Amino acid sequence: MLTLRQAGASDADLLSEWRNDPEAVRFSVSRREVGPAEHRQWLAHALASPTTRLWIAERGGIAVGQVRLDPRTDGHEVSLAVAPRERGRGVGQELVGGLMALAVTEGLQPLLARVDRDNVASIRVFLRAGFVQTRADARMIHLRWPQ
Ligand SMILES: CC(C)(COP(=O)(O)OP(=O)(O)OC[C@H]1O[C@@H](n2cnc3c(N)ncnc32)[C@H](O)[C@@H]1OP(=O)(O)O)[C@@H](O)C(=O)NCCC(=O)NCCS
Repeated sequence: MLTLRQAGASDADLLSEWRNDPEAVRFSVSRREVGPAEHRQWLAHALASPTTRLWIAERGGIAVGQVRLDPRTDGHEVSLAVAPRERGRGVGQELVGGLMALAVTEGLQPLLARVDRDNVASIRVFLRAGFVQTRADARMIHLRWPQ
């Protein structure tokens, strides 16, 4: 079973490692790696923000992924990453399910996601969880839950 805990400054190295994993870079919005100084600044800003929420998912006390919600005008946008060695085992699916339950109890709906068209695993995770595609552009598929 996965549990979510709020991320903190001590998670900086872990989050940087996952953000700069080649697959995560390939499917990121900027498509580039984030250097140490930029990452520190980004994390400090995210942790200080009253509206951005950042969690670390753990299984048996081991960190296996991260999930973040950023406020948008039309909802909260989900970003997620699973530790490279844990991918393809259902962690992404479970993470999104947990997040949806949290969104209901904390009134954070609708949830939004922007996923690279080539990111098959991520698209599957969101569609299977019940997100629906709202539009697509040249690079990204836009999804939303609930419809
Ligand atoms: C995208 C990501 C979060 C998915 O998490 P995951 O734990 O690997 O996904 P799951 O194991 O829950 O698999 C979900 C589905 O995708 C499929 N899948 C997993 N990896 C796949 C791959 N490389 N290619 C094709 N399908 C894949 C699984 O078979 C499963 O499909 P099913 O439910 O029909 O059986 C994870 O791969 C990741 O962190 N990627 C890098 C960062 C990233 O892309 N984040 C998302 C940005 S929107």
